[in-house]
Formats: sequence, C-alpha cells, structure tokens
Amino acid sequence: MSHFLVAGGAGYIGSNFIKYLMDTSDHEVTLLDNLSTGRSEVVESLKGRYGSRIVFLKSDLGDPEKLHPYLHKRAVDGVFHFGAFSLVGESQYDPMKYYYNNVARTLSLLKIILEHEIRHFVFSSSAAVYGIPEKTPITEEAERKPINHYGKTKAMIEEVMEALSGREDLVYASLRYFNVAGTDEEMLVGECHDPETHLIPIAVKTALGLRDHLALFGTDYPTPDGTAVRDYIHVTDLCRAHWAAFEKIRKENEPLTVNLGSARGYSVREVLETVQRVTGSRFRILEEGRRPGDPPVLIASSEKAGKELGWKAERSLEEMVTSAWDWEKKRSEDGLL
Ligand code: UFG
Repeated sequence: MSHFLVAGGAGYIGSNFIKYLMDTSDHEVTLLDNLSTGRSEVVESLKGRYGSRIVFLKSDLGDPEKLHPYLHKRAVDGVFHFGAFSLVGESQYDPMKYYYNNVARTLSLLKIILEHEIRHFVFSSSAAVYGIPEKTPITEEAERKPINHYGKTKAMIEEVMEALSGREDLVYASLRYFNVAGTDEEMLVGECHDPETHLIPIAVKTALGLRDHLALFGTDYPTPDGTAVRDYIHVTDLCRAHWAAFEKIRKENEPLTVNLGSARGYSVREVLETVQRVTGSRFRILEEGRRPGDPPVLIASSEKAGKELGWKAERSLEEMVTSAWDWEKKRSEDGLL
C-alpha cells in the first residue's frame, strides 16, 4: 500500500482520479486543495465513501508553511498534480491568476516535494500546449506553440520539469489531455464548473431545460461541416492512464510525455447531434461567431500512449454524453441545479 499526494483533488479530474484509485487499489491519498474551484461536497462524498484512506489537507498549492510540516510527518510515494485554473478565455483577461497559480505555485510544490525526496510526479498538461498544430493527428514531437496563457502555463511547467529531470532527481509524467468529459459510473463526484464553459456539460444542461439555447461558436472553420473538431476522452479512461503512467515512471525512472486522447475527432455539430439523440431533446442551437483562441482541429495521435502505457481510450462519445447527462439529471433531481 502506498500513500499519494493528490493536488487539486477536489476538482473534476482530481476527484475522479481519487475515486478511481480508491476503487482499483488499496492505496491512500492526501487530498490537497484550497477549495477555490474544488468543491467541499466532493471532499465529503469521497471521505464518506472511503473514510480514513483519504486525508484532506486544505491548503494552497505549494504552501511551504502547510506542506513542510505535513510532509515531515507523512511519507508520500508520489504526487499527482491536477491543481490548476483551466479556462482558456479567463487566462486571456487575467493572466496573473494563471501564471501565479499554475506556474509559481506549481514550482513551489515541486521544490517542496523534491526537498522531501519525493521523486515521482504526474502532471496534468494539456493539448493547449500545441496551439494551432501544423499536422493532424498531433504527435508528442510537435512543437509547443501555445496560443493562450493557459496553454503557456502548461508549456512552462513542462520546460521546468525537463530542466529538473536528471538534475534534481525528478521523474515526471506529463500527460497532455485532449477534451475530457463524463464522470464516474456511480456518479459520486461528477463535473461541476462555475462558470461552465465546456461543450458537453453545457449541451446536457440545455437539454435539461436549464438554459434557453446553446451558442455554437464558429461555423466557418476549414472542417467538413464548418464547426471545430475535438478529440473527446472519458474521464475514467483518463484516470486509468494516470495510473499506468505512474507505474511506468516508477518502474523505469525515466520521464514521459504523452498525449491522452482517442485519435478520433468529432465536430461540434456531431457532438450536439449525439447529445440530442441521447437526451431526446431538440434544444435550440444558435450559431454565433468563433470563440477567440479556439483552434479549428485538435486530434491526438494516441500511438505513443499505446506503445508506452499499453493504454487506449475505450469509452465512446455516446458513453461520455450519457454519463454527463445522467450526472446532470441526478444533480437536478437532488435539487442542486
Ligand atoms: N463550444 C461551443 N459552444 C459552447 C461551448 C463550446 O460551440 O457553449 C465549442 C468551442 O468553441 C470549441 C468546442 O465546442 O470549438 C469545444 O469547446 P470546449 O470549451 O468544450 O473545450 P476546448 O476545446 O475549448 O478546451 C478543452 C479544455 C482545455 C484544453 C482543451 C484541449 O477546456 O483546457 O480542451 O483540447 F486545453
């Protein structure tokens, strides 16, 4: 049995990962979160289900005053770092928030864990590091050319990890997520962003009647139907890849950078058709101009993930939409929306 530090464990992907780890192993975690975007209900649900296997440490990311004393007492075998602000649009008008939290605080976290001789670090990176890719599907060798501050913060941390790797005994896995959707099968934790900006949760909320219409951003992209194309991946598949990546770097002590996507692209219209089919709701779609900073097409090459991790995305778009739909219905029935 090992004990892990999960930074940002009260957020969407961090909490799904903790649930996955609890269900598939006997490991324990320290859930580190300042609850700025993470939710206290998620911490309560996880603690309610898994009890003392989860220790909640309420703290800012990389706060030396909280983390040093904690890590003096508690042996930790690795860190999974999900704690980041992740709204592309917001990063453009409030870059300080992004550079301070996603970069400065992450550097502090790295410094602290290395001082405690914790070497294995799994980092949530993003397809946003690629910017507008020259080739599709995107391989990991493609240049990092982020076009927004959010993507730049992820690229900066990748550069720092590369600089530290080998020098400071850091062994990292940088996982470049594509478009993550859905929730755990039992719907214990789920996806709740405030404000919500992602396509699938907004579409299912609209299907539920919580919004009057869905705004479709951009119909003049150079794609078959004119709308932007993305590579969607179910959060449970993503969680499984995190564990595979951790095991790989722990065994081989070599850094790893890998895309996590399905290698299959869906246009916004295709996603909306799937949502309308799954939910049985013909909600209103209003065509609008492009959203600034949106690349036309982002599709992962998933070859490296297959080769290095023996991993591939298994769940379909329909399963992601069904999962997101079931989750929003449950929240609505529970009076939480
Ligand atoms: N979209 C709409 N209407 C909406 C919301 C989204 O048309 O109400 C469109 C967007 O313009 C985009 C597509 O749906 O073309 C997907 O948008 P999302 O906001 O769901 O996701 P993004 O592709 O913008 O970004 C997500 C993550 C980023 C990550 C990126 C990597 O939020 O952090 O995937 O692929 F960098």
